[in-house]
Amino acid sequence: MTIWYLMRACGLVALLAFSTAVGLGALSTVGWHPERRLLHQLLHRSIAVLGLIFLLLHLTFVVLDSSVPISVRAVLVPFTAPYRPLAVGLGTIAMWAVVLAALSGWTRGSFLRNSSETGERTWRVVHGISYAGWALSIAHGVLTGTDTGTWWTTLTYVLCAMAGAAALVTRWRRREPRRVLDRRGHLALVDRGTR
Ligand code: HEM
Repeated sequence: MTIWYLMRACGLVALLAFSTAVGLGALSTVGWHPERRLLHQLLHRSIAVLGLIFLLLHLTFVVLDSSVPISVRAVLVPFTAPYRPLAVGLGTIAMWAVVLAALSGWTRGSFLRNSSETGERTWRVVHGISYAGWALSIAHGVLTGTDTGTWWTTLTYVLCAMAGAAALVTRWRRREPRRVLDRRGHLALVDRGTR
């Protein structure tokens, strides 16, 4: 029974960490001072790593717990778990999305090496999978959680959803101007809203 509680607690901590990391990530392009940007990035990455550690613990406890028959295969392959297959399957898809987002974060340099504009765009699309992972994590938690419906889990899910949504709205409203070269090769700033 202890493992069952630990598994659920780790799932909730992972969700809180991913929501914070997604919120910080969404706010990374709102025009920070270079020094602040560095600190912001450090915080974003550290909290994402914390989330991955708790996700790993969550999954280890899921497999170790004997009250639900979930194998390593069921953790890795979506919708194959005998316990709440749909809701647990959403967790598996969220897990792969989060892992892909983390891998793209670590390999960002290789995306930007050649043509920076295309590389940057491709990287943003790939790393943007983290939004899907975050949203699916919330859906998975709400649909599988034994405690869903209690005031404290409702508060947790609402806070997680609001943190990400508020950051996304702020990002959209305070987008940095795009840096482009004009006809004479001079650097020009173009408001994204005008293109
Ligand atoms: C990004 C990935 C994931 C996150 C953030 C996450 C988070 C959560 C959260 C917040 C809960 C609810 C805790 C509670 O209120 O009791 C939960 C429950 C659970 N999760 Fe995950 N999870 C993820 C992936 C997975 C995967 C891949 C599996 C297994 C295939 C899994 C299996 C479970 C199970 C069995 C429960 C317990 C359901 C119950 O209480 O009856 N999770 N998870």
